[in-house]
Amino acid sequence: MRVLVLHSHPVEESFGAALHRQTIESLKAAGHEVDDCNLYAEGFDPVLSRHDRMIYHDYPMNTEAVKSYVERLQRAEALVIVTPVWNFGFPAILKGYFDRVWLPGVTFELVNGKVTSKLRHIRKLGAVMTYGADPFRAFIVGNPPKKIIKRMLRAMIKPFAPVVFLAQYDMNRSTEETRKRFLERVRREMERF
Ligand SMILES: Cc1cc2nc3c(=O)[nH]c(=O)nc-3n(C[C@H](O)[C@H](O)[C@H](O)COP(=O)(O)O)c2cc1C
Repeated sequence: MRVLVLHSHPVEESFGAALHRQTIESLKAAGHEVDDCNLYAEGFDPVLSRHDRMIYHDYPMNTEAVKSYVERLQRAEALVIVTPVWNFGFPAILKGYFDRVWLPGVTFELVNGKVTSKLRHIRKLGAVMTYGADPFRAFIVGNPPKKIIKRMLRAMIKPFAPVVFLAQYDMNRSTEETRKRFLERVRREMERF
């Protein structure tokens, strides 16, 4: 499959960046064609401006400022997100990617006010996430990033589309051993994605 990988970590030496490298390597080893979209490295501008908001519904004019990102999304047959969790959501650069690229006319259409997906070309969804919090604390606050992946994005692609959700919780107390084990899990899961 052509897999679009969205990555949002600003530090090349981080564990998040290591997970990104592992994901790319394992997807390629499995024979997938990978489009590596490293949002920080590409200097993606996440700010939806006043002008962007004024033309938000005017397809295809709304795509002009982010044309290459729209084309990359439209070519994708699968999507894998590799990101840390910040303030129980996505880092701003990744949130801004969704605000600016997942536009009316691109990912959905409003038909009589009802949302209809235009993402049927995407068949599978994956996520590799790290949390500072342990699973219980994430659960108590409702684990919003997990719901965005497993409910919102999944439903936008196709109800009950296959999803691989890999999370390393409790990063604040991680050890070399726990990090190694999670990298190994990511390798295994991405090689059979
Ligand atoms: C700005 C910021 C906000 C964060 N907010 C949360 C949070 O709300 N919940 C959580 O579980 N971890 C939070 N963390 C911890 C990160 O998830 C954790 O540092 C990261 O997953 C570890 O991966 P890294 O070492 O590759 O950055 C936050 C970290 C930063 C820098």
